[in-house]
Amino acid sequence: MQDIIKQLEAKREQARLGGGQKRINAQHGKGKLTARERIELLLDEGSFEEWDMFVEHRCTDFGMANESVPGDGVVTGYGMINGRLTFVYSQDFTVFGGSLSEAHAEKICKVMDQAMKVGAPVIGLNDSGGARIQEGVASLGGYAEIFQRNVSASGVIPQISLIMGPSAGGAVYSPALTDFIFMVKDSSYMFVTGPEVVKTVTHEEVTAEELGGAITHSTKSGVCDRAFENDVEAILMLRRFFNYLPLSNKEKPPVRKAADTAEHLDYSLDTLVPDNANKPYDMHELITKTVDDGDFFEIQPDYAKNIIIGFARIEGQTIGIVANQPLVLAGCLDIKSSIKAARFVRFCDAFNIPVVTFVDVPGFMPGTAQEYGGIIKHGAKLLYAYAECTVPKITVITRKAYGGAYDVMASKHLRGDVNFAWPSAEIAVMGPKGAVEIIFREEKGDPAKLAEREAEYKAKFANPFVAGRRGYIDDVIMPHETRKRVARSLAMLKDKDIENPWRKHGNIPL
Ligand code: HXC
Repeated sequence: MQDIIKQLEAKREQARLGGGQKRINAQHGKGKLTARERIELLLDEGSFEEWDMFVEHRCTDFGMANESVPGDGVVTGYGMINGRLTFVYSQDFTVFGGSLSEAHAEKICKVMDQAMKVGAPVIGLNDSGGARIQEGVASLGGYAEIFQRNVSASGVIPQISLIMGPSAGGAVYSPALTDFIFMVKDSSYMFVTGPEVVKTVTHEEVTAEELGGAITHSTKSGVCDRAFENDVEAILMLRRFFNYLPLSNKEKPPVRKAADTAEHLDYSLDTLVPDNANKPYDMHELITKTVDDGDFFEIQPDYAKNIIIGFARIEGQTIGIVANQPLVLAGCLDIKSSIKAARFVRFCDAFNIPVVTFVDVPGFMPGTAQEYGGIIKHGAKLLYAYAECTVPKITVITRKAYGGAYDVMASKHLRGDVNFAWPSAEIAVMGPKGAVEIIFREEKGDPAKLAEREAEYKAKFANPFVAGRRGYIDDVIMPHETRKRVARSLAMLKDKDIENPWRKHGNIPL
């Protein structure tokens, strides 16, 4: 018995040391934490229950028979974040570069399967050289087993990936299938093929950072949802982010009491929208002045900035916010912003998070780049997402709601539950100038007449009352009472229950 206990302790000690002190020092030298340090920081103190510490790989090729580390390069198990259950895996770069063997994959699959059974999120801390080269196809099979589970779990439990080192080749597709990808600046990268292959095939010279670093993916590709300065910031922000989410699609998100009261009025909002309809303003101001304690967790803040998405709370309840941003491209909907918002709306819908939409949109972006890029199909994604969405939907039109974009942005016609407009709202087929240039084309040579027509059109349509008369707007509200009115609507919609017709799945325009 004493022998076994000694052996057990020795094995545990070996597992905890991973690839050894030298490699741990190298990891620290790169400014990175080890797999275990990351888990310790992520989970509530003392809550981690580790599984499969004694799992070892089964490879005997290339001298691997004598090269084994208990745990095989990934630390797995479950624990708590602010008292709420989550499953976690953390790849250990000090063991064969965190590369994925068959056994390593089995460990990840085990926590994913268990998370599905009990209904709790899976958080993956990724730091891996990809497929374990010595294992070949067994490793590829392991990846595919994970991919299948990612897809089966999609929309059932939240899945979050934090990229904290390399993630290359087909390995990128597990994070890509999860709900959110966060990255650490300067120490993480993701690409399908690395700089060497790129150079050979396309003759482009590019560094790993330029090709697939956190800045690239959070500004150019939109693959990354948030980029953080270092491991510690990333993990602490992940803990904060976790608090917004339900544990599964069967639950509602947790409620966190706020200092702010729902009846709080903010008169500064009455002057947010400038008198000149062509002048921009920052939609963030409306968001932070509407939500609890001004606390807004923005997703993809540096990508497709003409639309803002993110999580906040009203009366303690998590909401998803989608808002056009007049400061960027006048808040137009284009390909990137449509995809960005569509995916977010679908996440909220899958996980019982009400969607609050702030609208100031002059329409879809014109031009060949957009048309050739498929704005028709991509714009339809957002339309589809809002239309299929069954969670409470509250819309506030602050200024422009023109054309097809009016319909798309959670309008009454797409089953918007409560649709408000500010007195400054202009709900019309298009802006007054464009409208009169088409209707009164024959008067084009007479600027004075055209200006008169424009003023006439503006007086008639550039207001919320035409839509209000038809009931497309439930009420015209003063900007200062936005928080109160949205909060009351959310409370009224608390037990909203509607279902879409049965189908295997819809066919969103991909
Ligand atoms: C086995 C690996 C490994 C791998 C790294 N190591 N990647 N062992 N399989 N895939 C080992 C190294 O041999 C080394 O062992 C240790 O991990 C650290 O690696 P270094 O190269 O010293 O570290 P660094 O300089 O930081 O470079 C990291 C790296 C590089 C850029 C990730 O290791 C690398 O290019 N690795 C190969 C990446 C790759 O081609 N993977 C396959 C991709 S294809 P020692 O003993 O010296 O410490 C793929 C397909 C997936 O993944 C398909 C899914 C469908």
